[in-house]
Amino acid sequence: MAKGFASLLAVCLLLDLTCAGPVYGQTTAADVPETTNVAQLIRRVPSEPGTLLGRSRLRGLERRIAAPIGTARALPVYHPAEYLAEVKAGGYRYALQIDTGSSDTWFVKDGFQCLISPHCNLGPAFRGDFDLIEVEHLNISYGWEEGVFLNGLMAYSDLTVAGVTIPKQQIALATLGAWTGDGISSGILGLGLPGLTGSFRGQTPAEDGLQNLVSYNPVATTLTNQIGKHIFSLGLSRNESESFLALGGVPKDIKTGNYTRVPIEKMPKPFGGSDYFYYAFTPSSLTWGNSTSHRSETSLPQAIVDSGTTLNVFPYEIAHSINKHYQPPASWSLTQGGWFVPCDAVPPSLGIEIAGETFWTDPSSMVLRQVIDPETGFCATGVGTMSGEVFILGDVFMQGLVAVFDIGKRMEMRFAKRGR
Ligand SMILES: *[C@@H]1O[C@H](CO)[C@@H](O)[C@H](O)[C@H]1NC(C)=O
Ligand SMILES: *[C@@H]1O[C@H](CO)[C@@H](O)[C@H](O)[C@H]1NC(C)=O
Ligand SMILES: *[C@@H]1O[C@H](CO)[C@@H](O)[C@H](O)[C@H]1NC(C)=O
Ligand SMILES: *[C@@H]1O[C@H](CO)[C@@H](O)[C@H](O)[C@H]1NC(C)=O
Repeated sequence: MAKGFASLLAVCLLLDLTCAGPVYGQTTAADVPETTNVAQLIRRVPSEPGTLLGRSRLRGLERRIAAPIGTARALPVYHPAEYLAEVKAGGYRYALQIDTGSSDTWFVKDGFQCLISPHCNLGPAFRGDFDLIEVEHLNISYGWEEGVFLNGLMAYSDLTVAGVTIPKQQIALATLGAWTGDGISSGILGLGLPGLTGSFRGQTPAEDGLQNLVSYNPVATTLTNQIGKHIFSLGLSRNESESFLALGGVPKDIKTGNYTRVPIEKMPKPFGGSDYFYYAFTPSSLTWGNSTSHRSETSLPQAIVDSGTTLNVFPYEIAHSINKHYQPPASWSLTQGGWFVPCDAVPPSLGIEIAGETFWTDPSSMVLRQVIDPETGFCATGVGTMSGEVFILGDVFMQGLVAVFDIGKRMEMRFAKRGR
C-alpha cells in the first residue's frame, strides 16, 4: 500500500495531475454506487488466428498516439472485439461492439459502399431517424494493412443503452469504407474519452487533416454532462451471461472484493499539451513467472484499459519473456503474428500492480482455446506484442474483474476482483 501510494505521488508530480483530493488505493465495495441500468453483453469469440492483433494494427496504434488525426483505435483485422451490447436508436435495435479504446460511436448506413471483397461483413444498417450535421463528416482510418478506413455522415440521434436514453448523441453513419466485421455488429459504441473523437469540418475527406478536425462530446461525456451518469462499469467474463455493461454504477447483485482506485491519466498530444484519450494509468509493477523463474518490472509506461482489444499487449521484450514462461514455452507464429502453445500448456502467473494492489490475470484467460493455428493445432496465448512502449490491458486482463470508469470530478478507474 505504502509503495503504491509513493509511486502514485510520483505520477502526480510527473504528469502535473491534481492528486491532492482522494488518496488512491483501496476502497470498499460499498463506496461504489449501484445501478439497475445493466445490459448483458453478447460475447463473440474471435475464432480466426491472426486476428487478435496484427502488425498493421500495432502501427496504427503507434501512429495515433503520435499524431491522432482522424483518431480511432486500430482494431484487429477480422474479429475486432469480443463483447457487443444492444443499442436502440430510432426505434430499432442494433448490436454494437463496446470499445473503451475509441470514442466515435458509429453505425453502418443503408447503401454502405464496401471497398474490399467479398464484403465488409457488417450487421444490419441503421434505419432510424437522425438529424444530419451537414457541416461535418466522419473519416476514421484504422491504420491497418490496406488502409482500412470509414467515411460517413455525422448526425445526432437519441441512443438507448442499458435502459438509459442518451439524448441527441453525436453519432456517425458510415457510408463507405474498408472494414472487416463479424456479421452481427452494426458498428461501434465508443466509450473512450473526448481526445479520441474524430469528426472533420466540410465534405472533402481527401483533404482532411488536423486543420479541420473538430472535437465533440462522445457517449461517455454526454452521459456525464446530460444525465449525470459519470460512472460506467464493465464486467467482461468468458461466460457471456455474466458479462455486463452498467451505466451509473455497478450492478446491484454483483459480488466483488474491495476496489482499487487509480487516476485516469492524460496523454501527450502530437503538437504539445496533453488530453484525455484513453483510459490510461501507470501501473506500479508487472510480475510474471512460474514456480522456478520469476521476473518483475517497475518504472513502467502508461497502460491503456481497452475492452476492444482481446489480448494483453506489451513491448516485445516483456511479451517474449512472459510467453517463454509457459510450460512448454510458447512459440512465435510468423504467419499468425502471435504466440501459440499446446492448448493444455500451463500458463505463467501474470500480475499487474495497481496502486498497491496486484491483479493476477485469470490463468484460464491466458490460453485462448478457440483461437487455433491451423498449421500446428496450437492455441493462442493471452499475451501479444506491439512496437512502441504502451501497454494494452485487453479482455484477457478484464476477465474476472469488475472495471469501473469514473469520468466525473474524480477521473479515476476502480478495479475489483469478481466474486461468486
Ligand atoms: C479520409 O478518407 C480518405 C478516403 O476518402 C482517405 O484516403 C484518407 O486517408 C482519410 N483521411 C484520414 C485522416 O483518415
Ligand atoms: C455462466 O453463468 C451463468 C449465470 O451466472 C451460470 O448459470 C452458468 O452455469 C455459467 N456457465 C458456465 C459454463 O460456467
Ligand atoms: C476490504 O476493506 C475493508 C475496510 O478497509 C477491510 O476491513 C477488509 O479486510 C478488506 N477486504 C479485503 C478482502 O481485503
Ligand atoms: C519456467 O519458465 C522458464 C522460462 O523462463 C522455463 O525455462 C522453465 O521450464 C519453466 N518452469 C516450469 C516449471 O514451468
